[in-house]
Amino acid sequence: MAKEVILTGLRANAEFHLGNYLGGILPMVQQQKKHAGKYQLNMFIPDLHSFTTPIDHGKLYEQTHQNLKVFVAAGLDIDQPDTFIYRQSYIPAHSELTWILDCFTGFGEMSRMTEFKDKAAKLRGSQMIEEVWKEEDVPGSSDRISVGLFNYPVLMAADILLYGAKWVPVGEDQRQHVEFAREIANRLNNRFKDLFVMPADNVEQIKFAGRENPVRIRSLRNPNKKMSKSVEDPAGTIMLSDKPEDGVKKVMEATTDSQANIRFDFEKQPGVANLLQILALLTGKPQSGVNTEWEGKTSYGELKQAVADTVKSFLTDLQTKLAAIDDQRLMQKLEADEEVMRKVADATLLKVQKAVGLRPA
Ligand code: TRP
Repeated sequence: MAKEVILTGLRANAEFHLGNYLGGILPMVQQQKKHAGKYQLNMFIPDLHSFTTPIDHGKLYEQTHQNLKVFVAAGLDIDQPDTFIYRQSYIPAHSELTWILDCFTGFGEMSRMTEFKDKAAKLRGSQMIEEVWKEEDVPGSSDRISVGLFNYPVLMAADILLYGAKWVPVGEDQRQHVEFAREIANRLNNRFKDLFVMPADNVEQIKFAGRENPVRIRSLRNPNKKMSKSVEDPAGTIMLSDKPEDGVKKVMEATTDSQANIRFDFEKQPGVANLLQILALLTGKPQSGVNTEWEGKTSYGELKQAVADTVKSFLTDLQTKLAAIDDQRLMQKLEADEEVMRKVADATLLKVQKAVGLRPA
């Protein structure tokens, strides 16, 4: 029997920071290790999803490849025979299936997506949008929210359904989209007899991913907020491309509190807890072990020094690995996988085209 498919979309439109690494990239590499041989792993770059909100298009192609290299440097094994890496836009069936699914998707259904509502609200108040649009001389428009942002979950459903993926490990913010993929699969399966493999439901997905608490790395400057893009918060964000010395500096200047008592408590001492979390994840030790080692101590300076040392060797090591990646080999693997996946996707698309009457049955 064919192996069940685990599918992960790895966003790659911005430069990565430590929060992306510990919360997204590392868990993905661990998934691969855990499931190697038992499942097929589709790890693709949703490059068409990259500009649902405005970006610098001059950088997109390079950024996509740079980030793919980061996955490899982080330990993603591209030679693992059940792992396939590919770029969404290199497989036209994604766009074609999206259009067909669009016509079976309700306008109201999409309007209710929480992530859309959040992002749309942010865009309405964002200056960044204006700057990007001015730069590119797009004729002034007061409509800042693209149709692409609106129907992005439909493209995501196509990403999943084309490959018959059952397992789609995602963060909290993407769960509703996976639910929608089930919904639309079910709708078309009922209407046109069985076309799609149903992705597992939310409860099963969470069980499968087997993650305890989701990792949320905080800003080193505003530990009540998530670590975010460096343009918004340079001192609080460690970029993977930061010079190791700069990483050290950011840790040493991290905001803590005045309690002079080390405890792992995100509610009351988020700055300190954040440092303990970074330390545990970067050293690969269980959080509880790291906490036992540090709790009750009073010197934040000592804790910062330990975190700074770890960050320094992490950045040095990752950057060394990045520099050593064989670009040509990576491209060959990518293109070879794209060819294989194109066949899989086209076969699903043809089934759907036949069902809806675009091709002879
Ligand atoms: N929407 C996802 C994100 O923002 C990325 C993504 C696109 C994805 N298509 C997907 C994730 C399909 C899982 C499956 O992170």
